[in-house]
Amino acid sequence: MNSIQIKALGFAAILIIATIVVVTKMNIDVIHDSVNAITIGGAIAIATLTAAVAFKYIGQMKTDTASGELSEDNWDGIGEYKNELPSGWAYTFLAVFLWSMWYGLIGYPVWSYSQIGEYNEEVKAYQKKFEEVHKNADKETLQQMGESIFLVQCAPCHGNTGDGLSGKAQDFTKRMTKAQVLAVIKNGQNQLGYPMGAMPPGMASGEAAEKVAEWIANGAKGTPPAEFAVCASCHGADGKGNNGMAPNLTTYDLPLVQHVLEHGKKGIIGTMPAFKGRFTPVQEKALATYIQSLAN
Ligand code: HEC
Ligand code: HEC
Repeated sequence: MNSIQIKALGFAAILIIATIVVVTKMNIDVIHDSVNAITIGGAIAIATLTAAVAFKYIGQMKTDTASGELSEDNWDGIGEYKNELPSGWAYTFLAVFLWSMWYGLIGYPVWSYSQIGEYNEEVKAYQKKFEEVHKNADKETLQQMGESIFLVQCAPCHGNTGDGLSGKAQDFTKRMTKAQVLAVIKNGQNQLGYPMGAMPPGMASGEAAEKVAEWIANGAKGTPPAEFAVCASCHGADGKGNNGMAPNLTTYDLPLVQHVLEHGKKGIIGTMPAFKGRFTPVQEKALATYIQSLAN
C-alpha cells in the first residue's frame, strides 16, 4: 500500500466514524425516516467509493499506458479514445433517473412531512383518547357535553333553547309539528335509513290524517286514535318505532340523530346540513341525549 492509499482509507474511516457518532449522539432515526435513511446510505456510499477508488485506481494510475483507437476530435492537441460508455456509469445514471422520477412523483408528494397530515393525526389521537375517557359516560355528563356542542354547532339554527327559532329549524321541544307529520303522511319519506325502509306516501288522508297528526304533534300521549292502526304496523301500537324498525314518533332516538348528523335531512321546514365526520360517536350520543332532554 502506498501513502495515498493509506490517506484515502483513513479518510473513508473518518467519514464512517463521524457518521456513526452523529447518528448515535443526535438520536437520529435512520430506520423509520426515509430521508435520514437515504442520507446515511449516501454517506456509506461515499466512504465505500473512496476506499474502492484508493485500492483500484491509485496503483493503476502509475502503470497504465494509453492504448486503443483515438477519436477524430482533438482539442489543442489533446485527443480522446473511443471508449464504450462505462457500464457502471450508465447503470448509475439509469438508477438516478428512476429514483428521481419516483421521488418527484411519489416519494416527496406522498411521503414527505405535511403540516395538515400532522394536524389530522393529532386530532385523531386526541379523539381516540376522548372516546376512551368518556366510553361509559353517565347521562348527566353526556347531557352537559351535548349542551356545549349544541350551543356552538346547532343553536345558530335550532335556537339556544332548541325551540327552532319560530319554525326556521326543527323545534326540539316537540317531536314534530302537525304540519310536518301531515307533510310526511302526504308525501312519504325515504332518507333516514331505518330497517323498514321508506315510508310510503298517502298512508292516510283527510280527517283521518288530521287526527293522527294531531295526536303525534301533541306528544303521542294516551290512546292513539283508531286511524293510527295503519301506522302502527310499522311505528308500533304506541308510536315508539317497533324496536327501531321505523322512527319513534314520540321522542328522538339515537339512530335518527346519528343518521341526520351524518346525512342531513330535507323536510318541509328546510334542509338540515350534514355534519359528516365532525363528531365522534360519543359526541353524537351526547347530542342525542341533550336533544331528548329538550323534547316534551
Ligand atoms: C310501511 C311502514 C310504515 C307505515 C305503514 C307508516 N310509516 Fe311512517 N315511516 C316509516 C319509515 C320507514 C319512516 C322513515 C322514513 C325515512 O327513512 O325517511 C317513517 C317516517 C315517518 C315520519 C317522519 C319521522 C321523522 O323523524 O322524520 C312520520 C311523521 C311518520 N312516519 C308518520 C306516519 C304515520 C302518521 C303513519 C300512518 C298514517 C305512518 N307513518 C305509516 C314507515 C312507515
Ligand atoms: C343551518 C341550520 C342548521 C344547523 C346548523 C343545524 N340544523 Fe338541525 N335542522 C335544520 C333544519 C332546517 C331541520 C329541519 C329539517 C326538516 O324539515 O325535516 C333540522 C332538523 C334536525 C333534526 C331532525 C329532526 C326531526 O325530527 O326530523 C335533527 C335531529 C337535528 N336537526 C339535529 C341537529 C344538530 C344535533 C345540530 C348541531 C350539531 C344541528 N341540527 C344543526 C337546520 C340546522
